[in-house]
Amino acid sequence: MIVKPFSSESVSLHIPVLLSEALKALDPRDGDVMIDGTFGRGGYARAILDHAKTCVWAIDRDPEAVRYGHEIEKLYLGRFKILKGRFGQMKELLSAHGVEQADGIVLDLGVSSPQIDDPARGFSFRGEGPLDMRMEQEGPAAADVVNTLEEKALADLIYTLGEERFSRRIARKIGETRAKRPITTTQQLADLVRSVVPRSKDGIDPATRTFQALRLYVNDELGELQRSLEDAEHILKPGGRLVVVSFHSLEDRCVKIFLRDRARTSALISRHVPPREIRQAPTFELITRRAVCPSLEECRSNPRSRSARLRAARRTSACLVIGER
Ligand SMILES: C[S@@+](CC[C@H](N)C(=O)[O-])C[C@H]1O[C@@H](n2cnc3c(N)ncnc32)[C@H](O)[C@@H]1O
Repeated sequence: MIVKPFSSESVSLHIPVLLSEALKALDPRDGDVMIDGTFGRGGYARAILDHAKTCVWAIDRDPEAVRYGHEIEKLYLGRFKILKGRFGQMKELLSAHGVEQADGIVLDLGVSSPQIDDPARGFSFRGEGPLDMRMEQEGPAAADVVNTLEEKALADLIYTLGEERFSRRIARKIGETRAKRPITTTQQLADLVRSVVPRSKDGIDPATRTFQALRLYVNDELGELQRSLEDAEHILKPGGRLVVVSFHSLEDRCVKIFLRDRARTSALISRHVPPREIRQAPTFELITRRAVCPSLEECRSNPRSRSARLRAARRTSACLVIGER
């Protein structure tokens, strides 16, 4: 399913990634209450609504996605509702609407094609635009981070969130450049990074990892993910399904560690966690033992799907011990 943009959005379409795999793991059934924490252009939400007579609560932090969601509300009267906010606050957001429990939660992380492809949003180093990267379109932008963060902190963030081994060089160059004039555009930053990072043989643009680090930082994407997993543990009914599609090794690792911990399959957990914790029954059982990747065919038809990894788990009936999580 390709989701068309509004007529005013000349930018791009969003092709949902791993859609049939996500739907299979989510297993929507008539009467189910489902949560789509990353509405985007509604590719997942609409597939769930069309698959069974479900009620879908969708969340997105991007005002443009929410505007799109309000159009979809008209197509599925009484069965679909879009909420503006962060999935890291889903428990609170949904509770404000009387929703305390759900049969399924899906998160399709990262940014949508309309966000990446619109140079005015500042996510991409391919076009010229303001150095922005804010999904919410409010709060500090990437330019604020690049122009104000201390050089060492900048190097650390590019190293940890971008897994960029030339992070110190990049931070030094940013320091030198901004001392003369502020760095305000995507091209300015991309050219600066390219001037100090050698091209790799795999053809990946040297600016890729720095842009990724800044985007993750500006939107606190890993913090959001961790909070949403913990919320999902509270919200899902026994038998409820959690499906997460990630596009970044740090995100996938976060999901893998959380699910293995909660399913008590992690060797690390059994060796190091206090006995009191180990005795608590698993709150999830894994649906996918390994991450599910897109097929060659999907990678060919939608190159943006290449790095996608899907993990899914089912909530058990174990209660959470209040105060421990
Ligand atoms: C990859 S797109 C989802 C695409 C969607 N599955 C579809 O098929 O159209 C990710 C969406 O999640 C939103 N998003 C990312 N992080 C978020 C967060 N912490 N809270 C709410 N929405 C978030 C982005 O604004 C974007 O619209």
